Amino acid sequence: MIFFSRINRKSTPAAVKKVVFDEMTISSRVEELASEISRDYQGRDPIVAGILQGALVFTRDLVKNLSFPVSPDFIRISRYGRQSRTGEVKIVKDLQEDIQGRHVLLIEDIVDTGLTLNYLVRILLERNPASLAICTLLDRTELRLAEVPIKYVGFNVNDEFLIGYGLDYREYYRDLPFVATMNLEVVEPRTADRRQQTTDNRQ
Ligand code: PRP
Repeated sequence: MIFFSRINRKSTPAAVKKVVFDEMTISSRVEELASEISRDYQGRDPIVAGILQGALVFTRDLVKNLSFPVSPDFIRISRYGRQSRTGEVKIVKDLQEDIQGRHVLLIEDIVDTGLTLNYLVRILLERNPASLAICTLLDRTELRLAEVPIKYVGFNVNDEFLIGYGLDYREYYRDLPFVATMNLEVVEPRTADRRQQTTDNRQ
C-alpha cells in the first residue's frame, strides 16, 4: 500500500505551495499527544480507532508512541454527498472490535464542519461504549457547523486547502510526510509523468 509506507521522495510535487507543518513538527506534536493520551488511558485498555482514509498515517504514528500496547482498529465511512448538511454517513468498513463497555478514542486527520464526526459519534454511542473521545491532528474551527467534542487537537488550522500526511486532493498527496497548502491550479497525473512535473528540492 503506497501511502502506508515511508516515501523516499527526492522532490516535492509542484502542487505543494507551502509546507505548513514539516515532518519534525508533526512528529514532535504526535509524541506530545501520545504522552497525554498515554497518561489519560493508562490501564483503561482503550480501542484506538482511525477513520479511513485520511487518519491512517496519523493513527499509525500516534499508536507507535503510546506507552501501552494497542492494535489500532479502523472504520471507513462514505458520505452522502459532500454538500450534505446532515453529515449522514454510511459505514462501509466497520470496527473489528465490539465497543460496548470499552473506552474508545476516535482518530481523525482533520475536522472541518464537524458534520461527519457528529453523525458518526451518534452511531457509535448507540453501541454503549464506556467512553468516547476524539483526537484530531488538525482542527479547522472556522468551518464548524456541528458540535463535536474534540479532546485532543494537534494543530489549529485556517481554511486553506491542505494536503499531505494523510490529507488528499482527489486521492493524491496522502503520502507526503508533511502538511502543506496546495496550488489548486496544478493537477498532477498518477503516472510516471508526475516526475516531470516536480520541482527538485535540491536544485
Ligand atoms: C475528511 C476528514 C474527515 C472529514 C471532515 O474526510 O478525514 O473525515 O473530511 O469533514 P467535516 O468535518 O466537514 O465533516 P474525507 O471525506 O475527505 O475522506 P478521507 O478521510 O478518505 O480523505
